[in-house]
Parts: sequence; structure tokens; C-alpha cells
Amino acid sequence: MIQAAARDFAQNELKPGVIERDEHQKFPAEQVKKLGELGFLGMMVAEKYNGSGLDVLSYVLVMEELSKVDASASVVVSVNNSLVCYGLESFGTEFQKEKYLKPLAAGEKIGAFCLSEPEAGSDATSQQTTAEDKGDHYLLNGTKNWITNGSTASTYLVIAQTDRSLKHKGINAFIVEKGMEGFTIGPKENKMGIRGSDTHSLMFNDVKVPKENRIGEEGFGFKFAMKTLEGGRIGIAAQALGIAAGAYELALDYARQRKSFGKPIAEHQAVAFKLADMATQIEAARMLVYKAAWLKDQGKPYTLAGSMAKLYASKVAMEVTTEAVQVHGGYGFVKEYHVERLMRDAKITQIYEGTSEIQKLVISRELIK
Ligand code: CAA
Repeated sequence: MIQAAARDFAQNELKPGVIERDEHQKFPAEQVKKLGELGFLGMMVAEKYNGSGLDVLSYVLVMEELSKVDASASVVVSVNNSLVCYGLESFGTEFQKEKYLKPLAAGEKIGAFCLSEPEAGSDATSQQTTAEDKGDHYLLNGTKNWITNGSTASTYLVIAQTDRSLKHKGINAFIVEKGMEGFTIGPKENKMGIRGSDTHSLMFNDVKVPKENRIGEEGFGFKFAMKTLEGGRIGIAAQALGIAAGAYELALDYARQRKSFGKPIAEHQAVAFKLADMATQIEAARMLVYKAAWLKDQGKPYTLAGSMAKLYASKVAMEVTTEAVQVHGGYGFVKEYHVERLMRDAKITQIYEGTSEIQKLVISRELIK
């Protein structure tokens, strides 16, 4: 039922205008508002905090369906659900859940997760943003880069270094509100893909963050980021799966209709074999994604499964979307046919929430530990 609701939403609400939003880098504001009303922005949050109280498998089904059509909208769903809401519900205080989680889970507000910096991408322990302990508050200074929901968010989870001598154990996570004095939002990035999502750098100049806005114990910030990202990777794996499946469905339809040399191109082995490979890769990716979600739902360890799912599904997204353009021939290279956008959108799934190289690092560490 949830999958069908997400599929209908993608076809009826996301598809119209998706090409124009990509072209003009327009944030899908109305669509995100409706996603909030459907309960898709706080899917796994308990009902007492305004969430939908659903499981991770439901969440990945929704991510898959939305991403078939519009990955710019689905990344908002992913960040709000698996980074921001999950992080606050799992590690926040009661005060933080009441004040910040409730409006985020209800979709009244949007959240952002701020870890990456100009000099700290994959090497996330090298945080240069500082949070100086001033007694009743922290003083936040520094710059964050490539922040999804950078200007549309109201609530920002920001990772910063408090005590450099303690390395990753001196890192904290904070809740920062839009409008706090000294907090400014940089210009929007002009991106290759997911162009409808708003990605910005953020600047913090002597921002006073109350102590009650620190998440977890002093020094918990790096673990907070890692634990949150583990779940986030399942969401992005589902996004990659959806992008691949969306491109495949378009290629299959096109190949059935388009005729050359006297028959539908789907009946030429050159195209039929592509479709066979695409469908097989997607099915394998789907099994990895659903398994990771199932493990998380069962309360079992999912670090390995989540990174495997993200590594493989994002590779499949790149390969399948490229083949989908090929199946479409010249039509695939123009915007009306959607597959060129899906091919551009696919690339980010190999980069954000940990590059493919980082997933291999996490996987190999899990294997040999
Ligand atoms: N859960 C809990 N703790 C963890 C953990 C996990 N999954 N992974 C690491 N840790 C802990 C370690 O146990 C260690 O703590 P102790 O010293 O107490 O044992 C500490 O964290 C440091 O771990 P490492 O020594 O393994 O750290 P490292 O420097 O080697 O880095 C890394 C590990 C996996 C490479 C990590 O830096 C990483 O994941 N990097 C990628 C960052 C990333 O994914 N960024 C994405 C940005 S967010 C985004 O893209 C959102 C968006 O906009 C869509």
C-alpha cells in the first residue's frame, strides 16, 4: 500500500515539471510539502513525535519509487528521514525531540546534516569547524560544504571540533537553527545532477549555540555522525536503486515501441541482451537494499549490508542509466526522454554519504575485524 502510494505520488505529483525543475534548478517546494502531509518525511519516527511509526523496509520502498522519477525530491526525503530525524530520535534529549524532532517528522520543517567541509570530505575526522566551550553555550566558527537542503532547511545538525587534542573524541554534534546570529548561507551550487535539490555552503561566524543543543555526551559527535550515516547509506542505496529502475522501465517501454529493421528494437538481441543485464543487475541491487533494511528492522548489525547495498546499487545506477540512454539512441540524449537526467542524477549516489571508495573501506574493515 505504501509502495503504491509512493508510486502514484511520483507519477502524478513529481513527474509533471521534473524536467523544468532540473533545467532551472528549482527546489520541489510544493511537492515536498505534500510529501510531509503524506507522512513521508518522518516515516520511521514514533507517532508520539509526529512520525508515521513505519519500518525501514517501507522507507526504502518509498525512496525507490520516488527516485524512479525525481531524485532531487527523494534526497530531501532521505536526509530528513535517515540523517536528521533518525539522529534526533535515537540520540536527542526529550527537550530536543519536543522542540526540533516533532516539526521535522510532521514535515512542517526540513532538516540538514552538516558534516562535510572544504577540507574534510571522506576524511571526516579532520573537522576544521570549531565549537569552543563557553560555559552555558558553544561558539561555533567555520564553513560547511555541499549541504543538502542548505537554504530550505530550518534545523541543521552541525558537526564541529571542540578539543583538537582528543581528535575524533573531541568532536561534538549540535542543533543549529536558521536565523541564529552569525549563521549565513552561501550561494547555491550549480550541479551536474539532482539539480532541483538545493546544495549550499554554510558559514558560521561566532554563532552562539546553547549547551542544551548539543546532541549526546561531550565528544559524541563523531560517533553520532557515523551511526547516523550508516542508516543514511541504506536510504541512498534505495535512491540509486530507484534511479536505475526508473531508467530501465523507460528503456523497456521505448524498446517495445521503437522499430528498426522491421521490428521493435527490443527484439534485436543487441538491445534485448542489454535489457536482460539491466533487469538482472537491478534485481541484485534490490535484494541487497531490502536485506540491509530488513537487518536494521530486526535490530541486527547492518553496517556491512548497508555499505554493500550502497556500493553496488550506485554502481548499477550508473551502468543502467548509461545503457538506458544507449537504448534510446539519439532520443536518449535529449531532455524530453528523462534518461539523460537519470544518468546525471545517478553519479551523486557514488559520491554522497560516503564515496564508493569509502564504502569499500567500511566493507573491508568489517570483513577483516
Ligand atoms: N559506528 C560507531 N562508531 C564508529 C563507526 C560506526 N559506524 N565508524 C567509526 N566509528 C568510530 C570508531 O569506533 C572510532 O572510535 P573509537 O576510537 O572509540 O574506537 C572512531 O569512530 C574513529 O573511527 P576510525 O578510526 O575508523 O576513523 P577514520 O578516520 O578511519 O574514518 C571513515 C572512518 C569510515 C573513513 C569515516 O571518516 C567516514 O565514514 N567517512 C565518510 C564521511 C561521509 O560519509 N560523509 C558524507 C557526508 S553527509 C552527506 O553526504 C549527506 C548529504 O548531503 C546527502
